[in-house]
Amino acid sequence: MEKEQTLVLIKPDGVKRGLVGEIIRRLESRGLKIVALSMEWPTKEQIDKHYPKTRKWIEGLGKNTAKSYKEFNIPSTLLEDYGTDNLHEIGKKVREWLIEFIISGPIVKMVVQGLHAIKMVRKIVGPTVPAFAEVGTIRGDFSIDSPDLANIKRRAVHNLIHASGNKEEAEYEISHWFTKEELNSYSTIHEQFMTQERNQ
Ligand code: CMP
Repeated sequence: MEKEQTLVLIKPDGVKRGLVGEIIRRLESRGLKIVALSMEWPTKEQIDKHYPKTRKWIEGLGKNTAKSYKEFNIPSTLLEDYGTDNLHEIGKKVREWLIEFIISGPIVKMVVQGLHAIKMVRKIVGPTVPAFAEVGTIRGDFSIDSPDLANIKRRAVHNLIHASGNKEEAEYEISHWFTKEELNSYSTIHEQFMTQERNQ
């Protein structure tokens, strides 16, 4: 259980704003353990392979975009802005913007390990749209971008971080970004205390 691993990417906005240290601090101070970490400027191909290409995921991006139009009372229609109201086609466009954004600068990639690491990291990060992220989360404290502006500017929402959404994503993403040899194995002080047997 304590060995659950998740992938975290600090996107180019997080790196350029000098938030690498702050983001790592928040993960570490919670008790999560970093087992792999490095910076690189990703290629288009690497990011294309990182984000799912399934119809369901792409349509999900389209659905979220349609939801944002309602939530933010965007006065134009999807048809006017995207030339289509087909959610899959809209999702494909947003996915392209997302790739362009992530390859616009270096990213920091890391594997974070710990009890419920996948859920815990997502909680620390906060939801996709910064306006809905609670104060105290990384996005709630450090990001202000919004899909209504992003969609007008035809770009992805700048929200600092990517964190795997579930176990399958985490396993795939970790193997995509790191070799097995790059994952370190060591014990933190938290683990040493949590796994101690009770003295009778
Ligand atoms: P993340 O939650 O890491 O994964 C999907 C990303 O797509 C998301 O961050 C945003 O950066 C981007 N994204 C999602 N929905 C939209 C949208 N409607 N407009 C622009 N970018 C989006």
